[in-house]
Amino acid sequence: MRTVKWCAQMSLGVPAIDEAHKAFVDEMARLAEANTEQLGAGVAALIALMERDFREEEALMEKIAFPGLRAHREQHTCALEGLKQAQAYIGAGEPAVGHATIAQLTRWFLIHLSTMDLALAVALEMAGEHLHPPPNVFLRAQLSRMLHMRL
Ligand SMILES: [Fe+2]
Repeated sequence: MRTVKWCAQMSLGVPAIDEAHKAFVDEMARLAEANTEQLGAGVAALIALMERDFREEEALMEKIAFPGLRAHREQHTCALEGLKQAQAYIGAGEPAVGHATIAQLTRWFLIHLSTMDLALAVALEMAGEHLHPPPNVFLRAQLSRMLHMRL
């Protein structure tokens, strides 16, 4: 399975979110190479990273009364539930489901980052919630190219 590595173009300019996303991308890359024994513990760690990142993003959305909060939260919930279901399959001795889910989650992350998280970053910038420049068109173009890579 091909992996995606963190790159500066993935940065949204929101330090807390960028740090969480980097940890998430790094863990997904590590899990793409994991053997069956490593997969169970790794997926548990990935779930913990996702829960923390999603809580931080949703707290920021609540803080600025972000209009896309409900739809954004629904995507977070679906992604998390999908990984938890894969965790159950792994626990039942079906690691192939875990590997397939990691590949899908990587694709999902790139789409989510370049749409919903990007919109949140722009809204945070407009609300004056962080000091870094807002994401630009280059980010979207870069992510679009990555989405067309075979993972
Ligand atoms: Fe998000």
